[in-house]
Amino acid sequence: RSDGSAEKEKTLAIIKPDGLYDNCTDKIKNAIFDSGFRIVKEMLIQLDEESAMSFYAEHSSRSFFSSLVKYMTSGPVLIMVLEKENAVADWRALIGPTDASKAKITHPNSIRAICGLDLQKNCVHGSDSPQSAQREISFFFKEKSSGSAVTEHDEL
Ligand code: PPS
Repeated sequence: RSDGSAEKEKTLAIIKPDGLYDNCTDKIKNAIFDSGFRIVKEMLIQLDEESAMSFYAEHSSRSFFSSLVKYMTSGPVLIMVLEKENAVADWRALIGPTDASKAKITHPNSIRAICGLDLQKNCVHGSDSPQSAQREISFFFKEKSSGSAVTEHDEL
């Protein structure tokens, strides 16, 4: 591609149910743009139990698994594919540590510190490696969807 985007990395971001309240979505999107990410695709969906369990399958043996699934199906989530150089690591750095209550102390400028609450209500998800990013992006955007919930920003 002539715009050079082929060299850029993609990661999967999710604004979780708590992140969709109280103007947090705007704050999170502003942080995304201010940090030089492009939102390549976005999709507002209500996860069902089966999809949430499948997405978080690697945590299925953890004590918090059922709570996590219940929470992630408690309201809509905004799924986004973000693109920039070093997108996976840079998005993880921008969101901060998993436990938002600790992030407020150690990483006060991170998205989770600003919009999150605790280990569960931490407002956003980010892929933890390029391999996870590929898997997670194809989990939600398997084939070119013509569904009305999907917005593609190829022209941006
Ligand atoms: S761990 O312990 O390192 O495997 O956990 P981590 O990778 O940081 O977290 C994995 C996801 O599980 C969520 N999580 C929890 N949810 C509910 N209750 C508790 N106690 C809990 N601990 C972790 C956490 O928010 C992570 O979600 P994602 O969407 O991957 O950020």
